[in-house]
Amino acid sequence: NIPSHPLPSNVLSKFNNIIMPRAYEQFIESIWNINVYEDDTWVITYPKCGTTWTQEAVWQICNDVDIEGIGSTPLRQRFPFVEIQAVGAVAHKENPFEFISEMKRPRFIKSHLPICFLPKQLWTVQPKIVYVAREPKDAAISFYHHYYNLYRYRGSKENFLDLFLSGLVEHGSYWDHIEQFHLLKPHYPNIMFVTYENMKHHMPRTLNELCVFLNKTLSGKQMEKLVSHLQFENMKENPGINPSHLKETVQRHRPGSEYTFIRRGITDSHKDEMPKEYIEKFNEMTKGRFHELGLYH
Ligand code: A3P
Repeated sequence: NIPSHPLPSNVLSKFNNIIMPRAYEQFIESIWNINVYEDDTWVITYPKCGTTWTQEAVWQICNDVDIEGIGSTPLRQRFPFVEIQAVGAVAHKENPFEFISEMKRPRFIKSHLPICFLPKQLWTVQPKIVYVAREPKDAAISFYHHYYNLYRYRGSKENFLDLFLSGLVEHGSYWDHIEQFHLLKPHYPNIMFVTYENMKHHMPRTLNELCVFLNKTLSGKQMEKLVSHLQFENMKENPGINPSHLKETVQRHRPGSEYTFIRRGITDSHKDEMPKEYIEKFNEMTKGRFHELGLYH
């Protein structure tokens, strides 16, 4: 009983039985072989779990909270998204990974790839990896808005939620993505598991844990400045982080749209955005998949 996928078939493709953007077709296999360095820092997540927020936190911690200096330049330049950079390079007929091999070290790299596609050296070189998870219903709702605004998905919300439950959205099953990292974590001390909920409700504590993991010490003043910088309202107003080019893209097909990448920024957004029967379906799925992991049930 697989729900139909209303996105055009030129947008999505199946690799390893996982739905991924079709634009990744030309490099998805070679990403496995890119060089990883021990002083890299990677932020890896399933989409919409608080990637951008965590990237900014990690970059600022590692760069002495340089908010007014280099830290004011666009996050996507300081902390590139490896797959999207590769898409851009392929479009210009360039080597998809030249940018990454030419990045100044220490490098900061974002990826949404599931484990099977990530560079194999991540597991031998073992750079620092911060993995971010989010409550599944909230992640699904946030992804629905992403699909609606950026992919012009026009199926019903219910259909999207069925796709999400079946792992038929891009990057595959949310539960698989998170479970795989959670199972690896005890074997790889270079992986830190962060949750959106802890960032939201215990930000100073989570930032202190990140500092310990990243071997950085911040002064009380730097920490105070960072906590304020990372508040939802401040990040929403920050053009380096909440990029206006995405808003312009959305406004081209929906003039007057209020869309911004940084959207609602709350926990439990599913409570007033997810139909009740789906809350039950999601809870059942999460209980089945995450009960033994002790996550989100
Ligand atoms: P919502 O759509 O629920 O608002 P990602 O960066 O992985 O795409 O995640 C995007 C989600 O993180 C969005 O969730 C966005 O609003 C939220 N987010 C980004 N910055 C945030 C912040 N400083 N505080 C709280 N939520 C934030």
